[in-house]
Parts: sequence; C-alpha cells; structure tokens
Amino acid sequence: MLNYIKEFSPFFDHIQKMITEVGNRMNVPIIMDETALYLQSILPLLDITNILELGSGLGYSTYIFAKYTKPEVKILSVDISTETIDRCRDILKISPHYKKIDWYHSDALKYLQNSDLSEFNLFFIDAQKEYYGEYFNTIIDKKSGKGVIILDNLFLRGGVLNKTNSKSKAMDSLSKSLFLRKDGVFYWLPIGDGLGMFYYDK
Ligand SMILES: C[S@@+](CC[C@H](N)C(=O)[O-])C[C@H]1O[C@@H](n2cnc3c(N)ncnc32)[C@H](O)[C@@H]1O
Repeated sequence: MLNYIKEFSPFFDHIQKMITEVGNRMNVPIIMDETALYLQSILPLLDITNILELGSGLGYSTYIFAKYTKPEVKILSVDISTETIDRCRDILKISPHYKKIDWYHSDALKYLQNSDLSEFNLFFIDAQKEYYGEYFNTIIDKKSGKGVIILDNLFLRGGVLNKTNSKSKAMDSLSKSLFLRKDGVFYWLPIGDGLGMFYYDK
C-alpha cells in the first residue's frame, strides 16, 4: 500500500525518491517512509524555530525538516563522520531549502555536552542507539522553554523485544521511562521503526 501511495502522492517528491534510491543502493539506513510521512503531516502544526538533528545520514530526515517548516527555521545536523556530512551536503544542494541547513562534525553526545542548546525547540535523535538515554537526559537538562524531542528507531527493527541484549534492554527501559516523566508528554508510536515524540512544556 505504501508503494501505491508513493506513486501518486505529492508528498513523496523527486528528492525523497532520489534519497531513498541512494539509501537502498548503498545500504545506508534512513528514516522510513511512514516516519517521513508522519513528520510531514505534523511539522507544519508545530511552532518550531531551531532544529537540532543528531545523525545526518543521507539527509532524508534533514530534508523533511527543511521542507515542512517555515522558511526562517534553521536546522543544524550533527554527525560523527565528515564523509557522511559531505555526502549529505552534496545530496541536499539541489534542494530549494538548502540554505536553512547547516552541518557540524562531532560525536553527538559531545556536541550536546559542550553546546548551548537553549535556542533549539525540536531535537531529532537518530545517532548511536546505545546513547539514546544519555542524549535524551542531556537535552532535557539543557533545553529551555517549550518544544519536542523526537526519537527514531525505538523498536530497533524488532530487536527491542530481545530481553537478553543490553542495547535492547536499554532502549526498552528508556521508552517505558518516558511515559513516567512529569515534565512532558510522551507518545510512543508504531510508525516506521518506532517513533517517540516527547513534548516538554517548561
Ligand atoms: C540512521 S543514520 C541517520 C539517518 C538520517 N537521519 C536520515 O534520515 O537520512 C545514523 C547516522 O548517525 C551517525 N552517527 C553514528 N554514531 C554517531 C555519534 N556517536 N555521533 C554522531 N553521529 C553518529 C552515523 O554516521 C549516521 O550517519
């Protein structure tokens, strides 16, 4: 059914199709189409000014953030690999939203620990899965005001059900712990590879 939608929907444009093709050809993971579609539907409703993305990859999520937010929104995408950043920059050069995006070469956790995060009000976590808990906690400690933290791959492609693996156990307990927090509202969505939306309000 997804292919049926993709063929006719104006929401899968030629840049998205191109990134998907490159991802499939090179076997590089990108956000899943359902995730992209969901983000596209919700981004225009959110009052976003600055986005911090952890994990640039081929730039599929970066492109969605750039395309579906207001022209004045700025996006900073952090990745540990300079080669990845160069490739991502190259792919997104053809996008009319290219000027909204900047890249930063760093380990994601180091970037979070050493930077002022107060200007960002949308955080997208898609870097090293083992560190999701630390990414989340550092963001929560340093963010300011109201916003949303989005986490991709909470299902680890089904691996989260494996109770013997430490990475799976950590992801499972992180997701469950987010429901208990009093400083925001968490939606754990069965979209793509498991999408988390944590809306904080202070
Ligand atoms: C799943 S890909 C990101 C996909 C991208 N969001 C997209 O939709 O096209 C994960 C990315 O995280 C980067 N990464 C892995 N470990 C990292 C770390 N410790 N710090 C920063 N980036 C990291 C990888 O280089 C890779 O580009």
